[in-house]
Amino acid sequence: MLSLALLALLPVSTAHFVLTWPTNRGFDDAKSTNFPCGGFDSVKTPRTDFPLTGGPIQLDMHHTQTNIEVLLSIGSDPGSNYNLVLRRTFAQEGLGDFCAGEVSIPAGLNITSGTLATIQVVSNGDPDGGLYQCADVTLVDTPLSTADYNSHCKNGTGVKVTSENIQGNPNETTTETTPSASSSGTGTGTGTASSSTSTPGLAVHATAASWLFGAVGVAGLALL
Ligand SMILES: *[C@@H]1O[C@H](CO)[C@@H](O)[C@H](O)[C@H]1NC(C)=O
Ligand SMILES: *[C@@H]1O[C@H](CO)[C@@H](O)[C@H](O)[C@H]1NC(C)=O
Ligand SMILES: *[C@@H]1O[C@H](CO)[C@@H](O)[C@H](O)[C@H]1NC(C)=O
Repeated sequence: MLSLALLALLPVSTAHFVLTWPTNRGFDDAKSTNFPCGGFDSVKTPRTDFPLTGGPIQLDMHHTQTNIEVLLSIGSDPGSNYNLVLRRTFAQEGLGDFCAGEVSIPAGLNITSGTLATIQVVSNGDPDGGLYQCADVTLVDTPLSTADYNSHCKNGTGVKVTSENIQGNPNETTTETTPSASSSGTGTGTGTASSSTSTPGLAVHATAASWLFGAVGVAGLALL
């Protein structure tokens, strides 16, 4: 019970982020909880050319732990219909630059070069709900040059992905998925990760560790 109470404190230190590439519509901390695009409801031009075959999603992470999902909506002004999942919910740790790898547009959709679309990045909220940012793109056949890729895909020190394929959207999850969270049934992965050998002792240890990260996050906030 105590550990559950401690976990409940975690979201306070999670989840703010800025989508830095592709270029976001805008970021306003006060409105970032507004679905679908953090308060920026109008398409922004010029759009960013985004490779159909795969492009990086570059984020700037402001908190120590965040659940993230990348979605896509096809069309010139898609409203709130982000019905295509480019990357399922995953958990990330670490501050600053985070390149969420490459996402590519599912080939089966037969999307042609020049198609207009909007990418939405969703994270878990603060303390609940979600945080949203969008980038308006033109999907193109041309891959990024090595130089462009390198300038749009950077990781800060210690930034890492801690868990993949978490069920549900991040705006419906409030805590980082640690081994203890998985064993209590929240945010369980669908795949092999949750079947790893997680002993009660390990779970307690992980809970204590994630609380510590949370405390560090709060301390970090106080310094800003
Ligand atoms: C950044 O880290 C992510 C997650 O670990 C990884 O997928 C990506 O390839 C890394 N990118 C670079 C340029 O290091
Ligand atoms: C994509 O193209 C293939 C081959 O022409 C076709 O079989 C398939 O139904 C198309 N998919 C969609 C979603 O239109
Ligand atoms: C959570 O995000 C998803 C994906 O954008 C969206 O479809 C859903 O409506 C959101 N839920 C809430 C409660 O805002």
